[in-house]
Amino acid sequence: MTSLLQLTRFHVEDSARELLGKEISERVSETRLDSDLDDAILARIGAYALRRYLPGETLHGIQVFTAGGSHALTLTNLPTQDFPATPVSGFGDESELAVTNALHLGLLRLLGCTPFAVAYENDGRLIRNVVPNPEASGTTSSWGADSEFFWHSDNPHQPFSPPGSDPRLYAPPYLSFYTVRNEERVPTELMALDDVVVRLDEDTRLALLAKEFQVGAPASNDQQSTAPLTKTSVLEPGPDGRHHRARYDRGTTAGCTDAAAAALERWSAALGTAPSTELVLRPGEFMIFDNYRVLHRRKAFRPAPDATARWLRRCYAA
Ligand SMILES: [Fe+2]
Repeated sequence: MTSLLQLTRFHVEDSARELLGKEISERVSETRLDSDLDDAILARIGAYALRRYLPGETLHGIQVFTAGGSHALTLTNLPTQDFPATPVSGFGDESELAVTNALHLGLLRLLGCTPFAVAYENDGRLIRNVVPNPEASGTTSSWGADSEFFWHSDNPHQPFSPPGSDPRLYAPPYLSFYTVRNEERVPTELMALDDVVVRLDEDTRLALLAKEFQVGAPASNDQQSTAPLTKTSVLEPGPDGRHHRARYDRGTTAGCTDAAAAALERWSAALGTAPSTELVLRPGEFMIFDNYRVLHRRKAFRPAPDATARWLRRCYAA
């Protein structure tokens, strides 16, 4: 099936990876760097080394990504480091991950993005450890494993972010990831919203544009502090007037009228037939995608033993 997903892929050569790893390791070893307190310093160190060792074509592709209309970008074979055991409880010592954080935040700087955290999730910490947390068993959360996470966008209970605004008040425009380990080879699946919209009849599309829906917070949020978005739509016209953007999480999105509920059924059916792309992220792989124009999901999986269980590092970006 032909997909409208525009995926930009780059690969780091082994020689560049070694130089990058060596330079960043030396720089971050001089002090103790924490991802929350020292994010700007980590980004500076990472961006400098990346600019120095990545080929011009790769650098250019990264720099134009947000303006270019691509849905997602991946960069494979980045340096890795001696990783601690997977922090399945959710949090670990961030200073042990300075090389990883310098790469991740350095790439966001090259992308022209601002990394941010929200107070109502992940204890307000900048980097989310996406791990199979036994406490999240049975929930559709980034800390879950045993439940399928159906197609969704992250934090859809927030409005779309206007340019130049404080991104913490809005749904994250971009989700970025650095892969520590994925021995279970669990795919992250992406679907271009355009592929869903072309499968909707006009009445359904118009019903999804109507402000007749309620969208609640996902399971990863602190439920006491995040109210649902009411009288809202699932689809909105994008700023370019041609493409749509979407807010959706099956578990928390409801139609408030019969017409809206019926449209939501047809939307869900279209999600079942639209083409998607499976990415099995590998250690040292970076990925960023547009959270307004891409839906993502992860199927249920059986985690490896705790110490070596799947571990992605996620950071919101605007
Ligand atoms: Fe998600």
